[in-house]
Amino acid sequence: MRNRAYDGWLQYEPVKDSGRADEYRSWCGRIVVAEQGGVLDTAKEELAAGIERMLGKRPALGDKLAASPARQIVIGTAASWQLTPAERYAAGRLPEEGYLIRTETDAPNYGERLVIVGRTGRGVLYGCFHLLRLLVSGEPLGTLDIVESPKYGLRMINHWDNMDGSIERGYAGRSIFFDGNRFVEDRGRIVDYARLLASVGINGLTINNVNVHEVESRLIDDMFLGDVAEAANIFRAYGIRLYLSANYAAPITVGGLTTADPLDPSAAAWWKDAVADVYRHVPDFGGFVVKADSEGRPGPFTYGRDHADGANMLAEALAPYGGAVIWRCFVYDCRQDWRDRKTDRARAAYDHFKPLDGRFRDNVILQIKNGPMDFQVREPVSPLFGSMDRTRHMLEFQITQEYTGQQRHLCYLVPQWKETLDFDTHAKGEGSPVKSLVAGITAVSNIGDDANWTGHLLAQANLYGFGRLIWNPELTAEVIACEWVRLTFGRQPQVTVSVTDMLMRSRRVYENYTAPLGVGWMVNPGHHYGPNVDGYEYSVWGTYHYADCTGIGVDRTKATGTAYSQQYCEPNASMYDSLETCPDELLLFFHHVPYTHRLHSGETVIQHIYNTHFDGAEQAEGLVAEWRSLEGFIDDDRFTEVLERLRKQAGHAKEWRDIINTYFLRKSGIPDERGRTIY
Ligand code: GCU
Repeated sequence: MRNRAYDGWLQYEPVKDSGRADEYRSWCGRIVVAEQGGVLDTAKEELAAGIERMLGKRPALGDKLAASPARQIVIGTAASWQLTPAERYAAGRLPEEGYLIRTETDAPNYGERLVIVGRTGRGVLYGCFHLLRLLVSGEPLGTLDIVESPKYGLRMINHWDNMDGSIERGYAGRSIFFDGNRFVEDRGRIVDYARLLASVGINGLTINNVNVHEVESRLIDDMFLGDVAEAANIFRAYGIRLYLSANYAAPITVGGLTTADPLDPSAAAWWKDAVADVYRHVPDFGGFVVKADSEGRPGPFTYGRDHADGANMLAEALAPYGGAVIWRCFVYDCRQDWRDRKTDRARAAYDHFKPLDGRFRDNVILQIKNGPMDFQVREPVSPLFGSMDRTRHMLEFQITQEYTGQQRHLCYLVPQWKETLDFDTHAKGEGSPVKSLVAGITAVSNIGDDANWTGHLLAQANLYGFGRLIWNPELTAEVIACEWVRLTFGRQPQVTVSVTDMLMRSRRVYENYTAPLGVGWMVNPGHHYGPNVDGYEYSVWGTYHYADCTGIGVDRTKATGTAYSQQYCEPNASMYDSLETCPDELLLFFHHVPYTHRLHSGETVIQHIYNTHFDGAEQAEGLVAEWRSLEGFIDDDRFTEVLERLRKQAGHAKEWRDIINTYFLRKSGIPDERGRTIY
């Protein structure tokens, strides 16, 4: 039986409106594609298969226009002789991955045609997926005139999969790539995943964890390169370039050298050989993602060198092949003494990397997490964005919900990502949002081998939304949510309205019942699920809230704190530094305040904590009720599956509410103004 959850947003249900179906049939009876091979074959096949599912008949395929049917779809690039000269000219002028979709009715001798033209095969593939979305949405085809191209050249996904099959911070089963320290035999699932990614425009990915353990270090070794090449072939057919996470110490652990010193010629030579081998197997290999000198991973610090030395050595090896080094900036002291109030983890990335601006080779891209800490439900935008004029950098989000409910809770993250992209750094004066400064965007995947890919079915919206948002950061979170709902569940208005509304509310709901006002954490150590206010308070990880009997929050101001606020350009530095102007939602990230401090909202901090936690738990119940109202509108399997998760979330939200409220009542001794039950 067909598993709808597995098909994700590529459902392609039969078109119900008979008038529309007739119109579509008139256009979709035949697909003409003159070019062969590569991504164009995939594009043709995806289009034909999608049309067949929606209209019940597979289109005829050919390489020439035919006399009948009267209308046809023509797809191709500038090299296609089945396009008119004007169309070929237009194709050649598109950005590399751009496409246009046009209904052409007046070119003499060419007949009525719906053309999908790309500068490259990838553009054509994206155009085909776009046309399929239009068909699902019931759009008329008679007057299409669409031109699209992605905002960023690098649109990536990072997997944190280990070769034993486990996934670091994975909440949807096991790896679809690896098991038992080898590649999985059945690659069908990888193909289906590549389809999902390509349908939203992803064009690069790593398949292994940034924490590269022993076996994974050998992915660049003969032992696994054949498998790596096969994986690369699968993704290449969908326009996706394969990258690998590399172990900085590989010259020692794999190569048997005694050093990985970036300035030692033997280490550099070893990497050159290793890279040459990789390219022999994967000619379009994207490059390496590297987590170095971070959370116990090896790096150039061992040899008294810095990150630029380390990254440049790898970059030199990759440069002749057009490969890139994506070097992560998630570097901080994870052996901090909690008594030391001067060290501030939030400062670390900027303090490490800003002084190196201008020292990286052109094919190094720094990968910066959206916030200065670690993917919390709320944190400010990393001040590194905009601080390095002379270094290419990209943004890293986390789709997997490590700190946002681990796919057992609903938390639609696109609104958070949008806030990051729209944040005005003022780096080049007013109007310097993050989205205009980065060379690309990546995110940690949230999929595994669960039947529905993401554990929580509604978490598919985050994977879909990530792709759509980084294709076009001007789309709103709501438009993306709405699109996803319609593609996934069909076009019934009740479903569209309710599920979009649930998605759009979900992040605030989650934030309400978890750590307050931007302070973060308060989770159980290690696995990071569930409430534990002091879980990290006396630990080495640099993630503290400093709650005592009078107040809470981290003083990151210039005058009395760690001066982290000063890493931002003005006016942001002053805005965060001042209690008057710091936004409520980030208050405790920047300031230590008494519980009686009044927020801009008019509430005291303590009353805000109580109110949001009571509200949050109630709102989580509300999500259950809203979903229940859709019974009968959604097939039973998917309906029940989601209901189960939402119910558990509501129960767990109460646990959060009571633990947080009780903790702060006991700490502060200040009762809830509204006399509700706190334990
Ligand atoms: C978080 C996460 C780790 C991960 C790390 C990273 O700290 O908990 O599992 O390895 O981020 O991004 O490197």
